[in-house]
Amino acid sequence: MNKISFSNPRINTKNTLSIIKKALKKSFPNEGDQTIEFEKKLKKLLKVKYVVATNSGTVALFLALKANDIKKGDEVLVPNITFPATANAVLMAGGKPVLVDVDPMNLLINEKSLLKNINRKTKFVIPVHISGRGSNIKKILKICKNKNLKIIEDAAEALFSKFENKYLGSFSNTGCFSFAPNKIITTGQGGAVVTNKKKIYLNLLKLKDQGRTASRVIGQEDDYNKEGYNFKFTNLQSSLGISQLTDINWRKKKLIKIHKFYIKNINQNSNFRLIKFRLAEGELPLWTDVFCSKRKKLFIFLKKRGITCRVFWKPLNKCSLFKKSFANFPNSKKLQQKLMWLPSSLTLSLKKQKRICNLINSFLEKNYN
Ligand SMILES: Cc1ncc(COP(=O)(O)O)c(C=O)c1O
Repeated sequence: MNKISFSNPRINTKNTLSIIKKALKKSFPNEGDQTIEFEKKLKKLLKVKYVVATNSGTVALFLALKANDIKKGDEVLVPNITFPATANAVLMAGGKPVLVDVDPMNLLINEKSLLKNINRKTKFVIPVHISGRGSNIKKILKICKNKNLKIIEDAAEALFSKFENKYLGSFSNTGCFSFAPNKIITTGQGGAVVTNKKKIYLNLLKLKDQGRTASRVIGQEDDYNKEGYNFKFTNLQSSLGISQLTDINWRKKKLIKIHKFYIKNINQNSNFRLIKFRLAEGELPLWTDVFCSKRKKLFIFLKKRGITCRVFWKPLNKCSLFKKSFANFPNSKKLQQKLMWLPSSLTLSLKKQKRICNLINSFLEKNYN
């Protein structure tokens, strides 16, 4: 059977190897010239002043919170439906994640629920741009400005996605990206923090490298005047990133094409709908996500036919680490066990996508008519 998976990376091996060779020639596989080149390219593409590459999206979120001076016990509002990394990064930084309900139509953090959860301990909000959507960012910015809260954008799934002509991740003080294998570009593992503030940038540099105030003067001792870690991003990872940025426009177009094909070729009904993107505003659908009242049945139906979708994360309030009743999460309750992502690989062929659509349509006909 011709198998189809949820997401496969697209790696041009020849191109990647030629870039990696440059790093190996210098016998320098650690963070170095290629990392600087990768950061520069991202900076230009995203139209931001500073980019700091790091070893995962989770670490990017952690560093972003630390660089913005999170204090022990600070409350950080995070959406109840997100990858646990968002909340784990808060815990890692000593903060307290406070869960906020999401919007049922676009899965983004719900503004009313956000307002309800703000108190004097609240210091940060982390909006998550799920699957590349971020259309509520302006409203969040307004709320946070009024309430004097800092925003860290979790744009792990939204690299090169825009809203009203501006890149998601660049709306606030600090934005975070992931280069895990199912993203638009992958470096195996990896992430980046972007900011337009020099102070935050300098904090990030120290935090990711043992608090070092690099003198770079040969023979002179480095100073270490701040708490820091080792979250560097190697030349080898950067080579993978640089190589995938060379065809970034193709990648963006392909993701839009996949999503539009699903819209055109699946017969949606009130029990099965694609979660909408604002394509005209520049949102880039990294993955096509759907609401299906019979998710489990559909997942198994497709799986038996060689097609692997990806079921959504459990709402965080249902995970034992954060356990809470659904009382304050009515929308999450409606969505739980009903969301999944359709195959959205950069390598997905038209023929395979036609097969997926035909199978989904036959499932919908049998199960909802
Ligand atoms: C919404 C969201 N936040 C954070 C992350 C963490 O990124 P990483 O897996 O690179 O640590 C992911 C992961 O893909 C994610 O989807």
